[in-house]
Amino acid sequence: MKHVISPLDLSMEELDRVLSLAERIFKNPEKYSECCHGKKLATLFYEPSTRTRLSFEAAMLNLGGSVLGFSSADSSSAAKGESVSDTIRVVSSYADICAMRHPKEGAPFVASLHSSIPVINAGDGGHNHPTQTLTDLFTLKILKGHLDHLTIGFCGDLKFGRTVHSLINAMVRYPGSRFILISPDELRIPTYLREEVLSANNIPYCEVKVLEEVMPKLDILYMTRVQKERFFNEEDYIRLKDSFILDAAKMKYAREDMLVLHPLPRVNEIAAEVDDDPRAVYFTQAKLGVYVRMALIMILLNISAEL
Ligand code: NCD
Repeated sequence: MKHVISPLDLSMEELDRVLSLAERIFKNPEKYSECCHGKKLATLFYEPSTRTRLSFEAAMLNLGGSVLGFSSADSSSAAKGESVSDTIRVVSSYADICAMRHPKEGAPFVASLHSSIPVINAGDGGHNHPTQTLTDLFTLKILKGHLDHLTIGFCGDLKFGRTVHSLINAMVRYPGSRFILISPDELRIPTYLREEVLSANNIPYCEVKVLEEVMPKLDILYMTRVQKERFFNEEDYIRLKDSFILDAAKMKYAREDMLVLHPLPRVNEIAAEVDDDPRAVYFTQAKLGVYVRMALIMILLNISAEL
């Protein structure tokens, strides 16, 4: 049985399988509408979510399965002090697969050690968010047509943004990836990523503080929200929250074929006027997330795509 805790839990071959199945589902969703009949997905969300939880649930419903779960720690026995390992032991007998989001890094991994059903990490603290990464890769595959030789600018909260950490880990496996990391000093990517992932693999990257000057070099601009919930004090958050605001004036520096991605939710970091720019694809990205989650659920449940 396979769990997906980090994007690296999927080999390149498995990743290709997920992305190509997602593409087939995207092109012909009706064909897959009964694939998971009789199967149940549990969504165990100890932290707020809109897209991730609802797209997981929509994915399972689109496959003809059912969903159960909770959307906050307060409404589960976590509020009474139950551990994730006890919760997952019990949920394993109620559902066939589970997606877990937790504020503590490593919680879905701990759950996987005690689970008899596949556990998918739906975001653990500032650590990883593999299904957002699958969504991001699928968006690039559909809209750019390839995942190699891309220069990606990550902008905003690169310290706490788990979507950034996961996507960097995934993209270094594609040839020709280059990274431009745009953040204030306090929100630089964690040292382990810089040293053990980027430098150790000789991946070209640079760190800058001004967005406009690097815009013309980018194939992809990946904007992120400053992660308020991970700050230790509000003063720092207030000082840093509007470090970067992408607006129509800044988009003028970008290439015609640059794409703007954002995992959402957006706060102030992208002005609403950018939404009408055809290069702004974050709402399409959110939509595509359902198809990769459908593909991932099918593959983890060993359901044949040829049904
Ligand atoms: C992201 C997350 O939860 O990490 N959202 C999402 O899952 N689409 C990004 C964020 O909250 O800023």
